[in-house]
Amino acid sequence: MSNVHVLDHPLVQHKLTLMRRKDASTNSFRRLLNELSMLMAYEVTRDMPMQDIEVETPLETMTSKVIDGKKLVLVSILRAGNGILEGMLSVVPGARVGHIGLYRDPKTLTAVEYYFKMPSEMQDRDIIVVDPMLATGNSASAAVERLKEMNPKSIKFVCLLACPEGIKNLQTAHPDVPIYTAAIDRELNEHGYILPGLGDAGDRIFGTK
Ligand code: URA
Repeated sequence: MSNVHVLDHPLVQHKLTLMRRKDASTNSFRRLLNELSMLMAYEVTRDMPMQDIEVETPLETMTSKVIDGKKLVLVSILRAGNGILEGMLSVVPGARVGHIGLYRDPKTLTAVEYYFKMPSEMQDRDIIVVDPMLATGNSASAAVERLKEMNPKSIKFVCLLACPEGIKNLQTAHPDVPIYTAAIDRELNEHGYILPGLGDAGDRIFGTK
């Protein structure tokens, strides 16, 4: 599985384990996802371009490095992707945000687009697409396909959990898009859920079940 990065830092793994518990409250699930998203942002932005600026310390002037957060767009696949946004934005507050609304047709499990709103000048930007679960890979592939029409500088995909089927689907369609995940679970079931997984991420984030 080339181009797949499993974020196996102990803090990431610990928090993910706590999130998987079926009796984790909505509050604790959301808080853990928020913390995990900050840690994932740290890894996924590791190679972000930097520029030199002049700063005055209390003692002298020096040249020091900053990132240009405005060049980064976090694209949330609605609605569960929004659970990752907040944590990532607290680490990269200057990032722009785009939203893609895709729902899974319950019969075919294919992705159907109902919303698409991006910042301007996407051709100058690096994109990080966020969605907690890389399950069938259909939504992720459809989102990346749509974003590629805007000719961005780069696209990365970040999720909390992936499964072999979803990775294969996304990598086959978009081998140039690196995948960052906290874990790769065993399999996808016939209803499109990841096993052992953590259930429906959207319901658990928003307390809708
Ligand atoms: N979406 C979820 O929320 N959970 C899964 O297991 C698969 C897709």
